[in-house]
Amino acid sequence: MAQGAAMAIPLTCALLPRQEFPGALESTRRLQWRIRERKFSQKALRAPITMLIELKPPPYSLNSLEPYMSHETLECHWGKHHKGYVENLNRQILGTELDGLNLDDIIIMSYNKGDLLPAFNNAAQIWNHEFFWESMKPGGARKPAGDLLELIERDFGSYERFVNEFKSAASTQFGSGWAWLAYKANRLDVGNAVNPCPSEEDKKLVVVKSPNAVNPLVWDYTPLLAIDVWEHAYYLDYENRRADYISIFMDHLVSWEVVSSRLEMAKAQAAEREREEMMRKIEEEEQILMDSENVEMYLDSENEDSVVD
Ligand SMILES: [Fe+2]
Repeated sequence: MAQGAAMAIPLTCALLPRQEFPGALESTRRLQWRIRERKFSQKALRAPITMLIELKPPPYSLNSLEPYMSHETLECHWGKHHKGYVENLNRQILGTELDGLNLDDIIIMSYNKGDLLPAFNNAAQIWNHEFFWESMKPGGARKPAGDLLELIERDFGSYERFVNEFKSAASTQFGSGWAWLAYKANRLDVGNAVNPCPSEEDKKLVVVKSPNAVNPLVWDYTPLLAIDVWEHAYYLDYENRRADYISIFMDHLVSWEVVSSRLEMAKAQAAEREREEMMRKIEEEEQILMDSENVEMYLDSENEDSVVD
């Protein structure tokens, strides 16, 4: 057990104020620049931008997760709840500065360092549900393999310990919310949210739970797997037996292939960010060196002048 079994981290403290933005998506500066650019275009056209957020369907038919998740549940969950979030968000952002941004950017902007703006819940719930549908597949579950399994064993001690921790996080989330497996490769200086455990090492898998619509993106974590523990996700099939629903999800519904491919993307993204950060530091050091050389040249020319005088 290299790192020991990590404890589930409640995301509730994400509602505290904090540092700079989650680089998993994009730098704040770049995002702000894009908003300014879009505002300029909007003004030039003298018309509101209306890029509607779409209702994305699950990547399988609504009855294909049966008997574990019924057609009736998916019809209601996707066809009413998910659809409702999409319709509400499109109404909320119409003509605002969020209009025309992609979903990830809307989430980050409206998370507003934990002081949620009205669009956050609908935007995050759309993202979360798309992610949830894609986390499952007909004939899913069994056990992960390859790099994913290796990292799970490294960071949780064993696959069984990870499952227990994930189930515990999902079953103990008070009220509505989500449980996640996420890749934590964020820098400590992330500015959109509280980093819950700033002393933890980066580049590891963690299990976290979150209230309502909050997802780990706002912490600069990269989500790999999610389970929806709002009652609307399981009540029609399991009534109030949330634990049964969670066990069925882990045993029969998870698409580990999708989770593995998300991990590979997360690792590649983390490596790219490290490279960018290293290049930025080198450029800054070079600039400091050039500035100091200019000062020395200036002082030297002053001395020469004084000699001439
Ligand atoms: Fe849901």
